[in-house]
Amino acid sequence: MQKSINILGSTGSIGASTLKIVRGSGGAFSVNLLLAGRNLEKLKEQIQECHPHFVSIYDSDKVPDLRRFLKKNSPGTEFLPFDTALKLDCDIAVSAIVGTAGLLPTIHAIRHAKRVALANKESLVAGGDLIRQECAETGTEIIPVDSEHNAIHQCLRAGKPKEIESLILTASGGPFFGLTHEQLQSVTVNEALNHPTWSMGSKVTIDSATLMNKGLEVIEAHFLFQLPYSKIRVKVHPQSVVHSMVEFRDGSILAQIGIADMQLPIQYALYYPGRPENQAFRFPLEGSFSLDFHDPDRVTFRCLDLAYRCGEAGAAERIVLNGANEVAVRAFLAGEISFTGIPSLIEHMLNRIDVPHPHTVEEVVELDNRVRKQTETEVRSGLF
Ligand SMILES: NC(=O)c1ccc[n+]([C@@H]2O[C@H](COP(=O)([O-])OP(=O)(O)OC[C@H]3O[C@@H](n4cnc5c(N)ncnc54)[C@H](OP(=O)(O)O)[C@@H]3O)[C@@H](O)[C@H]2O)c1
Repeated sequence: MQKSINILGSTGSIGASTLKIVRGSGGAFSVNLLLAGRNLEKLKEQIQECHPHFVSIYDSDKVPDLRRFLKKNSPGTEFLPFDTALKLDCDIAVSAIVGTAGLLPTIHAIRHAKRVALANKESLVAGGDLIRQECAETGTEIIPVDSEHNAIHQCLRAGKPKEIESLILTASGGPFFGLTHEQLQSVTVNEALNHPTWSMGSKVTIDSATLMNKGLEVIEAHFLFQLPYSKIRVKVHPQSVVHSMVEFRDGSILAQIGIADMQLPIQYALYYPGRPENQAFRFPLEGSFSLDFHDPDRVTFRCLDLAYRCGEAGAAERIVLNGANEVAVRAFLAGEISFTGIPSLIEHMLNRIDVPHPHTVEEVVELDNRVRKQTETEVRSGLF
């Protein structure tokens, strides 16, 4: 039976890859909702391509133009206000908005979809306890899209939770693997955006370069697989061939190998527990290739340790880490702070902010907003 899909963040890198999988599915999936942030031109292209049942956009200034476009080009597509669109029932919701802006949409997706294919890691970092609670109450399953967690999800099909010794997240190391702190001080935005193995949105690409992406993924793994942080390890694997591994208590380590293309984990998350035939995603086994694994340099790339520290500390610290990081990455991309200013600014915010433990989504959002405002003020100080 055809499954209906809501794509939250359709105009982004994960959203566009999801549409490719849907297009190639031979009718196994239909697009119920396309939901964008601000990129109306991209949304228009996507509407003309797949004529979804519903469409929505976060930026309310773009709504009149979108409505006119629908009337002329896709009269069968209904416009929905953003808040209404988040509450639309479907079989699978793909949560692919970037940043904490994805938290509320993810919570609504858990309430209204049978499955959430989760790419938005920041929602688990900021609201992991709330998301777990929503899943327990609704029975909605989360299938991770993030390639590392998707790999672990696949490896775990070979064993029981109590048989797990540790999870091993692999990291490409980003474009600056092996550089010293002094060398990092002068790296440019273009150099940081030049990821060696993956093509992704700008925020996650910078997070990969600082190793914050791996830090956020450690917290994501903690909430997805419910293991203590001491059992979640990181290895730098520059080839990005092994997407992650699970070590079992008998000493066996299982790894998932595949091409470095997010369509592969997205396809898995949509079809799970099945596996469709797909010749396009064959891993090139011809010839020889090598697999290297290194310990991360946690002194030079401090973001990883900051994430472990905040993960252990609790919800408030995770929200500060995540919110300050988002502002710091935006400031770096805008040329307002240096690359090494990113961890310094986050650490400064962690030391400075005295925050209560949030218990509800509203409290998480309020704290996140407060952290962002204060971090923006620090950016303007010019010290980072
Ligand atoms: N890209 C990857 O390969 C990859 C891999 C693993 C995990 N992830 C995770 O997946 C998520 C998405 O990453 P991405 O690389 O696809 O990001 P991206 O290319 O920057 O796309 C982000 C999407 O979020 C939308 N958006 C931003 N702010 C919004 C708001 N306030 N309300 C509604 N929509 C909003 C954007 O809309 P507009 O463009 O229309 O403004 C866009 O559709 C991130 O959490 C990232 O960490 C990505």
